Amino acid sequence: MKIMVINGPNLDMLGVREPEVYGNKTYSDLEKYIEDYAESVEVEVVVVQSNSEGDIIDYIHYALGTQDGIVINPGAYTHYSYAIADALAAVKLPAVEVHLSNIHKREEFRRKSVTAPSCIGQICGLGFDGYKLAIEYLAENIKGEQND
Ligand code: DQA
Repeated sequence: MKIMVINGPNLDMLGVREPEVYGNKTYSDLEKYIEDYAESVEVEVVVVQSNSEGDIIDYIHYALGTQDGIVINPGAYTHYSYAIADALAAVKLPAVEVHLSNIHKREEFRRKSVTAPSCIGQICGLGFDGYKLAIEYLAENIKGEQND
């Protein structure tokens, strides 16, 4: 079972950016948290981050044929990137959208996700645990033999 975790813009600033919203842990802490959990459930995980929309689209395209599922936190692109939504729809891989913060509890513009309709579901507001739950869901609900 291979899962690609794609993190979008400004997530590399975790630990520095708005700690009252995102907490004090760093992006390296997040990577380690995801990798440790994936290892414990025997999922092969690759964790990537980019601040560029095109790179995120390229990662999604690359996942087709190499990965069994995607966990994606598109950052602010969530709210307006039809290109990322289209890429997820194009590859048709099972995907779960994750947000560290509760996007429904914040500014109005964050309440809408244009990317979530291209995903199986969305988890938000649970911090790092959202990634763990997304991987757990995919590991239990999708077949991984295609890319083993
Ligand atoms: C975020 C929520 C987005 O609204 C924001 O632009 C981010 C992070 C989250 O994980 O809570 O960059 O995706």
